[in-house]
Amino acid sequence: MSRLQVVSGKGGTGKTTVAAALALALATEGRRTLLVEVEGRQGIAQLFETEALPYEERKIAVAPGGGEVYALAIDAERALLDYLQMFYKLGAAGRALKKLGAIDFATTIAPGVRDVLLTGKACEAVRRKDGAGRFVYDHVVMDAPPTGRVTRFLNVNDEVAGLARMGPVHHQAQSVMRVIKSPETAVHLVTLLEEMPVQETADGVAELRAAGLPVGDVLVNMVRPRLLDEDAVRAAAGDRRAGVARALAAAGVSGPERLVDPLLAQAAEHARRVELEREQREALAKLRTPVRELPLLGGGVDLAGLYHLARTLRRDLGVSDA
Ligand SMILES: Nc1ncnc2c1ncn2[C@@H]1O[C@H](COP(=O)(O)OP(=O)(O)OP(=O)(O)O)[C@@H](O)[C@H]1O
Ligand SMILES: [Mg+2]
Repeated sequence: MSRLQVVSGKGGTGKTTVAAALALALATEGRRTLLVEVEGRQGIAQLFETEALPYEERKIAVAPGGGEVYALAIDAERALLDYLQMFYKLGAAGRALKKLGAIDFATTIAPGVRDVLLTGKACEAVRRKDGAGRFVYDHVVMDAPPTGRVTRFLNVNDEVAGLARMGPVHHQAQSVMRVIKSPETAVHLVTLLEEMPVQETADGVAELRAAGLPVGDVLVNMVRPRLLDEDAVRAAAGDRRAGVARALAAAGVSGPERLVDPLLAQAAEHARRVELEREQREALAKLRTPVRELPLLGGGVDLAGLYHLARTLRRDLGVSDA
């Protein structure tokens, strides 16, 4: 399993939810994972029903078997201060710089620098070791920007290339790229079984591959249960008025005529959906990546739902259960 797991996908398909479930799934048997968000929207805090995350790694969940999930909302300004501190030992001077507004300048004017700070912080967590030489986090899971922006976001080397050919920013970009382009990293794309997100996933996979970034799995989220078997779906697609009316009467339903049309309409709708989903699964199969499915949870995702999704992922990924 890659140590840096990046989760992207079309907006609203469940990136934050899936990233959180993945962080829980990988935190088995005493392992420790770090779930990071980079867009400053406090989606993780909302999901885990805790107050807004400070710029500080803190434990937000315990996984079955004693694993731990930590979370961090990476903030570009704070990451810049860390970074200045690291390279220039600018403690108090860094804070003064912030007061002067120099940091706003750096983070709003140069998006490439902003991205290298965010990815740099995540990569630092990936590589960090404790006093005994062990990795502090077994896995880092990133709730990343959506498909349309993720390749640029991760390809920081290209972004800062025109900006700085040497010096610490350049070094930082190169060391980030060493982690991100290595087998230590996997970029997963979340999708739904619908035409638009599947198309966006195909485009995203092509773009990531063209940039030499390691494509991980396609994670199909909110998969609805299948209610009818093949025969029933075929039957529902045809006209079965007489047969349905007879079956209802035989089952002792009174006034069966009233029910025939609504029932047939529902069945036909289901048959259409199954057919559309079959087409989308075929399109995803062509991408030559592992495809994993996560169920639609009725009533939305609460904490119990998150643990349920984590169990599904753990089974699928073959992570040993504790
Ligand atoms: N498997 C699921 N079953 C039911 N509801 C889900 C599931 N996954 C996600 N959701 C719900 O879908 C909505 C969007 O999920 P989420 O916020 O994770 O998506 P996102 O891709 O991170 O969105 P954004 O692009 O806004 O960051 C949320 O209300 C979430 O609870
Ligand atoms: Mg999100």
